[in-house]
Amino acid sequence: MLSFTSKRSVAIGEAMIEMAVVGEGTYRRSFAGDTFNTAWHMAQLLGPDFPVGFATKVGTDTISRSFVEELEADGIDVTCVARDADRTMGLYMIELDGAERHFHYWRNHSAARLLGDDAGWLDRVVRDAGLIHVSGITLAILSPDGRSRLWNALAQARLRGARVSFDPNVRPRLWTSATETRDTLAWFFEITDIALPSFDDETALWGDMSPDATLNRFAKAGVTEIALKNGAGAVQARSDGVETSVPTPPVSDIRDTSGAGDAFNAGYLAARLSGMDQADAIACGQRVSSRVIRYFGARLSKENVPKFE
Ligand SMILES: Nc1ncnc2c1ncn2[C@@H]1O[C@H](COP(=O)(O)OP(=O)(O)OP(=O)(O)O)[C@@H](O)[C@H]1O
Ligand SMILES: [Mg+2]
Repeated sequence: MLSFTSKRSVAIGEAMIEMAVVGEGTYRRSFAGDTFNTAWHMAQLLGPDFPVGFATKVGTDTISRSFVEELEADGIDVTCVARDADRTMGLYMIELDGAERHFHYWRNHSAARLLGDDAGWLDRVVRDAGLIHVSGITLAILSPDGRSRLWNALAQARLRGARVSFDPNVRPRLWTSATETRDTLAWFFEITDIALPSFDDETALWGDMSPDATLNRFAKAGVTEIALKNGAGAVQARSDGVETSVPTPPVSDIRDTSGAGDAFNAGYLAARLSGMDQADAIACGQRVSSRVIRYFGARLSKENVPKFE
């Protein structure tokens, strides 16, 4: 089983301003984004003994400052937040049409799109991290050169002993083609230690016929630890060739499944960092995600974060 050289972790990606409708023409402002949701829940679960950083780029405007202040207040290491004076954070709105939720995005020119522009900064943010978490969304928003710089920084960090966790989180509208998506993801599998895909994404992109086919594909790419999410279905996993299947406890009062996968990742990674084995880490991931889907929004309120055992 993989071990970690440091208690420090960092997630790299984009957080957006979230405007969620709460009444006719009235919206509540929050912040969300896949890797950010994962880092935030990890920090709440792990507490100060295991520092969690979020590496991103924001603006120098007041909304970006509010975001950084909120991170600090919530115990996240903000030393890896870079600033760009000419840009600001991306934004999305959640509107309701009956029970259907519609998402509208303004993220094409967000500051986070430039987080791959500075190789020196990337090297600094991954330095000393035992675990580095990235996602397919992180890759999708970067330029080809930005992806290369990130790949190199992760590869170097792995040579120094860091472990890389990767959630492919396939979002077709962020990519120009399925071929580009597959090529880029496969390239990052080369430097992935822990893969946290979800079966619906994987089958849509790669045509996998079963969860086993997905596990085999990752194993063939050289990934030694894989936990495959599958909504209400069992989490199927493999670590050093040993298979585990953990049924997902039924959740009856589901309100909003957004962020389920990100919350699972947080529980899983927090558990693994603190030394639990894969089966216990999966159970921990399921516990956090089952809680998230009972509430609106992709992040729990601090009081609702389950106790970490
Ligand atoms: N209907 C459900 N019933 C019970 N648990 C669920 C349900 N949907 C999701 N979960 C929990 O959330 C975890 C992650 O869900 P899912 O497989 O939908 O991830 P995902 O597709 O990565 O989500 P995301 O949309 O956040 O990317 C599951 O492993 C499970 O623990
Ligand atoms: Mg997902």
